[in-house]
Amino acid sequence: MENRIHEEIEEVLEMFKAQEGKPLKMKDFFHVSILNATWSLFMGQRFERGNEKLKHLAEAIHEFCTIDGFLVQLAMLVPAISKYIPVYSGFQRQLDGLVANYKFMEEAYNETLPPGHVQGQPRNFKEAWMDQVELIGDDKTSSFHPSQNCYPKTAGDVFMSSMESVSTTLEWTLLYMCCVPEVQKKLQAEIDQMIGTTRSPLLIDRPRMTYMDAVTSELLRFSTITPMNGPWRRATEDGEYKGYTIPRNTFLVANTYALHHDPEVWGDPENFRPERFLTSDGKIDKNVSSQVLAFSTGKRHCIGENLARDQLFLYIVSILQKFTVTCTNENPSLVGSPGMVRYPQAFELIFTSRFND
Ligand code: HEM
Repeated sequence: MENRIHEEIEEVLEMFKAQEGKPLKMKDFFHVSILNATWSLFMGQRFERGNEKLKHLAEAIHEFCTIDGFLVQLAMLVPAISKYIPVYSGFQRQLDGLVANYKFMEEAYNETLPPGHVQGQPRNFKEAWMDQVELIGDDKTSSFHPSQNCYPKTAGDVFMSSMESVSTTLEWTLLYMCCVPEVQKKLQAEIDQMIGTTRSPLLIDRPRMTYMDAVTSELLRFSTITPMNGPWRRATEDGEYKGYTIPRNTFLVANTYALHHDPEVWGDPENFRPERFLTSDGKIDKNVSSQVLAFSTGKRHCIGENLARDQLFLYIVSILQKFTVTCTNENPSLVGSPGMVRYPQAFELIFTSRFND
């Protein structure tokens, strides 16, 4: 699996090298790379560099994710809104975006994968799905029954969620590394000690790299890219929580941003300080790291957490192993955009090789 991710990372490193010493715009920089890494993992094939279809798909996904607003969220919970004011609420645009993305995905799939699916021997996610469709036969209650039309939604969910979240987290990461250079230096020291300067990082390095683990928790806490935790919920029955009565059908929004920035929990939430996750003898303090709920909790907890953590590890460690990152602006803004996904403002970085080739 990591070989597939490394293929994409190599391209990113080459781009940094080619632009070395010159300002590089970071907004949306990682979209295509992460989409290709996830595509390659799920579909077993990657797109060649510069493929227009992949670029178009990445742009369409990003546009879909940036359609935002109170009414769109509400429309997902109150069918009347999507039915009676689909255009005004923004719901129709979101739906159109979803359908367009799916069409792209089908075209891209047919382009990258040769025919020849053998039943029971899936080569990728789609063929595994088709095998299940075959297995369930005429059971219309199954999510795999074509009448439920679940495949486009599931595939869409996977590619959208992974591209937008991992690439946005990477943008934030590099920004923090510039703003807190002592963290960048400490992380590079750990990389040099545990991996060295020549071989690429491997996933087996992950458990040994405690400081990187603490940095990951801190960047997930500090950036909180899904401040309202994704889709809202509606109470299915009357309930009570900490003395509050919650009647059936109440809208419930988990304010993850508030949890991650509560001074009573974190002391100094406004500082990017990975050390808060370390015990005095340098181990991860599980009591503290378990307070980070970037991937949510419960039944609808993010299904991609492990993949996201692996991708973040390989990208961040590979980049900082080779480059030191600095900002063109002395005081870059750390204010995120409001909305479903919390994006950083546009910013530029300068990449400087740490070692001569
Ligand atoms: C830093 C990276 C990521 C973050 C912070 C993140 C965060 C989240 C959050 C907060 C949710 C909502 C959970 C809820 O409703 O309670 C979610 C759901 C989801 N995520 Fe992620 N995610 C990340 C990466 C990924 C990746 C790599 C994938 C794909 C493989 C993925 C696939 C999904 C899917 C399919 C759902 C919907 C699950 C459901 O509704 O049952 N995510 N994610």
